[in-house]
Amino acid sequence: MEKLRINGKKKLSGQVSVQGSKNSTLPIVAGAILCEGKIILHNCPDLTDVTAAVNILESLGCKIRREKDTLIIDSTNITTSEISEKLMHEMRSSIVFLGALLARTGKANLSAPGGCEIGLRPIDLHLKALRELGVEIKEESGRLCCQVKDKIKGKEIALAFPSVGATENVMLAATLAQGRTTLINAAREPEIRNLADFLNSCGAKIYFAGESTIVIDGVRRLHDSEFRVISDRIVAATYMASAAVTGGEMDIINFPVSDIAPVLPFFYSSGCKITADENNLHIKAPKRLRSPGTVRTMPFPGFPTDFQAPAMAMAAVSDGTVIFIETIFESRYKHVSQLKRMGANISVEGSVAVVQGVARLSAANVYAEDLRGGIALVLAALAADGTSDVFNLKHIDRGYENIEENLSLLGADIKREV
Ligand code: UD1
Repeated sequence: MEKLRINGKKKLSGQVSVQGSKNSTLPIVAGAILCEGKIILHNCPDLTDVTAAVNILESLGCKIRREKDTLIIDSTNITTSEISEKLMHEMRSSIVFLGALLARTGKANLSAPGGCEIGLRPIDLHLKALRELGVEIKEESGRLCCQVKDKIKGKEIALAFPSVGATENVMLAATLAQGRTTLINAAREPEIRNLADFLNSCGAKIYFAGESTIVIDGVRRLHDSEFRVISDRIVAATYMASAAVTGGEMDIINFPVSDIAPVLPFFYSSGCKITADENNLHIKAPKRLRSPGTVRTMPFPGFPTDFQAPAMAMAAVSDGTVIFIETIFESRYKHVSQLKRMGANISVEGSVAVVQGVARLSAANVYAEDLRGGIALVLAALAADGTSDVFNLKHIDRGYENIEENLSLLGADIKREV
């Protein structure tokens, strides 16, 4: 079984450039089908999830070429509105194709995403909002058969929770709708703004994305565009954590630093020194991290749930107690049992994890059970005494491009072995 073999306790230093954002690339790739023409997308990371999205586009009739980190997508001919169950299951966020297909073809036939490693992935908010826009949805043995009655009609819609995926689906569906859609309690994550910027670059009229109320004035069609996807804020924060857990010092470059504002207090309170300009950041970690207190995951601009596991790897070796309260997903502590194998002192009760930092972690064989939990194990192994093996790399490969090359260049002793 493939594994990352990590000999820990090497201080990381140097410079790393941040890859494109997976969570921006996926909805933007889906959004490319709204445009009856050619889309050139730069800064698309080469990850299994992005390949899965590309496979879906191809199955719909698009022609796609990758040149390094650029995807060239021709969606002139969409030949079907159906996505096979196999393709839907290859990528958890494939539900974002629902809004895109409805906008382009007025129909969609695809399977519901079901559960995943971090808990159930209900889509009730997506379906309720799309129904309000005039979509008829039948759920038949795990398949969603959707049809626009006449035309998608703009409306005022309020989400009960600012779901990222539901916000993206509404934006995609409403872009080619008749009239104005006002989405209240929309998600405010930077990826939402990036999707709106992309669609607007194709001629859409989306206003105030990134705020709680988004206004979308439907347009008849979208045109060709060339666009650069933003860099990945969670990956940037993960490299910061790799400096933090090894007492290192690092330049993390080419990403919008304002996107990581919600995690900066955590690093400052841990004793890290940070200087930054708009797109680059320098971090210097203390010899021993301090406890930053309590971490409560929240929708943006709160502390991101996607950084909860990497932050826990930091907490595991910090001096003091850190309390985590996970409010977004119900099963997001799967990394805890693995961190404990390395000597971490963590107890979990429901959505609360109490981490009592230890002076040293020790090497162990550990198993990634989800993407961010997996990278937390890599971070813990970088901090631990001795040689650890991290297994189940398929999870980590969904979100981190060239992880072992990048960490090696920063001075880690890490190898991928079969
Ligand atoms: C996206 C991100 C994911 C991140 C999450 C929260 C992508 C590809 N994935 O996931 O990395 O962790 O945002 O920042 O961008 N919910 C419902 N009903 C719904 C929709 C969501 O109950 O119809 C619940 C979910 O179960 C979850 C919470 O709302 O508990 C947040 O989900 P959501 O914001 O939709 O996350 P995703 O878009 O799936």
